[in-house]
Amino acid sequence: MLKRIIITGSIALLAFAAGPRESSATPDLPQYRSDVHVGVTSCAGSTCHGAATPFEKSVVLQNEYVTWSQKDSHAKAYTVLMNDASKRIAANLGLANAHEADICLDCHADNVPANMRGQVFQISDGVGCEACHGGSIRWLGQHVGVRDHAKNVAAGMYPLEDPVKRAELCLSCHFGDDNKFVTHRIMGAGHPRMSFELDTFTAIQPAHYVIDDDYRKRKQVANGMQTWAIGQAIALERRVDALLDPKRGMDGIFPELVLFDCQACHHSLTEPRWQARPSTGLGPGVVRFDDSNLLMLRVLVTALDAEKGATLARQTTALHKASTESVEAFHTAAKALKETTGDLVAMFSGHSFGSGDIAKLLAGLLGEAKSAEYSDYAGAEQALMGISAVVSAAAEMGMKDVAETAQDPLAKAFAALAKYDAWDYAAFRSAVESIPVPN
Ligand code: HEC
Ligand code: HEC
Ligand code: HEC
Ligand code: HEC
Repeated sequence: MLKRIIITGSIALLAFAAGPRESSATPDLPQYRSDVHVGVTSCAGSTCHGAATPFEKSVVLQNEYVTWSQKDSHAKAYTVLMNDASKRIAANLGLANAHEADICLDCHADNVPANMRGQVFQISDGVGCEACHGGSIRWLGQHVGVRDHAKNVAAGMYPLEDPVKRAELCLSCHFGDDNKFVTHRIMGAGHPRMSFELDTFTAIQPAHYVIDDDYRKRKQVANGMQTWAIGQAIALERRVDALLDPKRGMDGIFPELVLFDCQACHHSLTEPRWQARPSTGLGPGVVRFDDSNLLMLRVLVTALDAEKGATLARQTTALHKASTESVEAFHTAAKALKETTGDLVAMFSGHSFGSGDIAKLLAGLLGEAKSAEYSDYAGAEQALMGISAVVSAAAEMGMKDVAETAQDPLAKAFAALAKYDAWDYAAFRSAVESIPVPN
């Protein structure tokens, strides 16, 4: 897993909350809209976004292309489809090759239909600017020098500053949607495991923009805790949707295995490591639903509404129990959870996350760590990314001491999770438990 570096020296900034927003049921994502994607080359001019170094007097950095092409793995997402790992995956799946298969291109490139590809569009650019920012045919001309973001959005620019919209977009590839999905069969063919946390992944992409006064004038800025929360709510929604989708939820007599904890099945048999995880209520030898998003949501919801948090915890345990009974019981429990969590995006969007939430969220996460709830890798990984999001938000709000005292434990925790197959739970737990919670 990638390590997140938290900058502790940043100036104190006020916490901004995004206004209440509805999550859209059918995401209006760049890949599915009708705007022509002109091509990365059209963004990369040296006086546009292809400058070698940031422009001092400009509102945007203007070297975004250089950051993307040199440091952002999205720029090589297409070329990886030609490497040995992809060749093996393609061969195992019976595909002629990976770089021409829609099943791979849909996530590893800006795979819009032929009639939506402009003259300089190249599929080999991978996940290019317009795969995230939207097909630019209607805004390319007008956005140059124009600071009217709303006008650009009206002309088809995707509003990535909105954490809800951002989560929907990133997760469409980092988890999948009903058009594209990495099934256990694709994993079995050799695809790497996927994990995602919106605030952390936004930071490590790496960011090709700076949030300064000028940015705040033009765009909404969500607090990192809010970004984390909204990302978790939408990730859970996607996971439950996949579970309940007749096309994706089952594979023959088995449920779709990517929805379950990988290490419930994939681990060494010579080193027994089973231990109870209290809130699952499950005994040994049972395949666990991957509840890592639920573990995070429980902490988040409890901090905002204790009663609802308790309901969520109860329904999570009920879901685990139902998974040992029947598909029907499992689906019924999943629907109950969907009902309870349906308003979380609105709840998190409407909450003004601020310094008062730091202690509550850290205490919640550390408390669950102490109750051995993060003994599955997926849960530990989400907890660590969540803690990083909270600590990073503290740093941004000027709570330097919180960020500084957490640096060393966070580094140790990231090191403990570095090797997926040989992660060190004891080291992870003691590192996390040594993070001080501010009063
Ligand atoms: C639903 C979206 C999705 C689909 C479909 C998909 N991938 Fe991926 N793939 C990803 C994401 C996201 C990652 C990065 C995972 C991470 O590091 O968190 C990735 C990573 C990879 C990697 C590792 C890249 C590296 O830098 O080492 C390979 C290889 C790969 N995919 C090949 C394929 C092939 C071949 C197919 C088609 C059979 C395919 N993928 C289909 C989303 C997808
Ligand atoms: C994986 C998704 C992704 C890709 C690919 C991507 N961006 Fe971005 N970009 C973002 C996000 C997220 C933001 C921050 C939210 C915002 O300001 O809209 C952003 C912000 C920006 C900004 C706004 C800076 C500001 O101050 O308002 C510019 C300009 C930009 N990107 C240009 C580019 C260019 C040019 C490319 C291609 C070379 C590119 N981006 C590729 C996700 C992406
Ligand atoms: C069109 C599909 C697509 C979209 C949209 C997308 N990604 Fe990705 N992302 C990928 C693929 C594919 C990879 C793996 C690339 C590789 O390693 O070659 C990846 C890799 C990454 C990585 C590197 C992960 C690692 O383990 O190395 C980060 C971080 C990331 N994406 C963040 C984001 C964020 C944040 C967003 C939303 C703003 C986003 N992505 C949107 C497809 C996508
Ligand atoms: C219910 C048990 C179960 C779960 C949960 C599960 N798998 Fe599997 N996995 C299997 C089985 C069974 C195979 C096939 C083994 C074989 O062919 O020998 C397999 C095969 C694989 C392989 C191919 C291994 C090889 O030797 O080539 C990969 C990679 C893989 N799974 C990844 C994952 C990932 C990633 C997850 C979680 C997202 C996951 N699995 C969840 C049971 C599971």
